[in-house]
Amino acid sequence: MKIAIDGPSGAGKSTISKCVAAKLGFVYIDTGAMYRTIGLSAVNNKFDTKKDIESIIKMLDEINIDISLDASGQRMYLNGNDVTDLIRTPEVSAAASDVAVIPEVRIKLVELQRKLAEGKNVIMDGRDIATYVLPDAEIKIFLTASAESRAERRYKELLSRGISTTFEQVLIDVNNRDENDSKREFSPLKVDDNAKIIDTTGNSLEESITVIKEFIIKEMSK
Ligand code: DC
Repeated sequence: MKIAIDGPSGAGKSTISKCVAAKLGFVYIDTGAMYRTIGLSAVNNKFDTKKDIESIIKMLDEINIDISLDASGQRMYLNGNDVTDLIRTPEVSAAASDVAVIPEVRIKLVELQRKLAEGKNVIMDGRDIATYVLPDAEIKIFLTASAESRAERRYKELLSRGISTTFEQVLIDVNNRDENDSKREFSPLKVDDNAKIIDTTGNSLEESITVIKEFIIKEMSK
């Protein structure tokens, strides 16, 4: 069984999907981490991620991206090095959103994502899972929340990881990424016709997890 969870940045997709997958015994696959790993590689190469498109496309043939999925979660490797924590900075978030616009990047990652999901019970989160990566997913959820509430969550998360920033800056970043992710030509962030829209504005994490778990259990029993 395949469950697709899409939505804008900061809606709580990763945290919620990870918890629900653990409760249901599903494998959780975070596709944003894959775009982040390519974004990190571009940053490490000092590319301008809005302009150096040809260099980024060439880089794709020269890097190795590996993923390990185990009980402790998903880990990302770039050329053999564990980059799971390095891909969470604001700089890499912006770079990931930029490289995700490039069709060659998306084609490479979508192939990997479909292979990873093959023959497994998975919850996969991203932007285009229901519309493009796994259009046959049995359950499709579009998780969203107001930009302010998403920025607030992201702001607290960054502070707890010791990254210094302001709420205003995080809100600007969230709005920029929304625009970048929704307006790109190839496979943009959009609601699939068969997706259930769940708005988590004002919910605690526990409340959101309960709502989504119950929705999935109800759908599974149909
Ligand atoms: O979910 P996230 O914030 O970790 O994703 C990082 C970036 O990757 C985000 O700005 C959009 C992009 N992305 C995408 O285009 N398609 C996906 N399936 C997942 C993420």
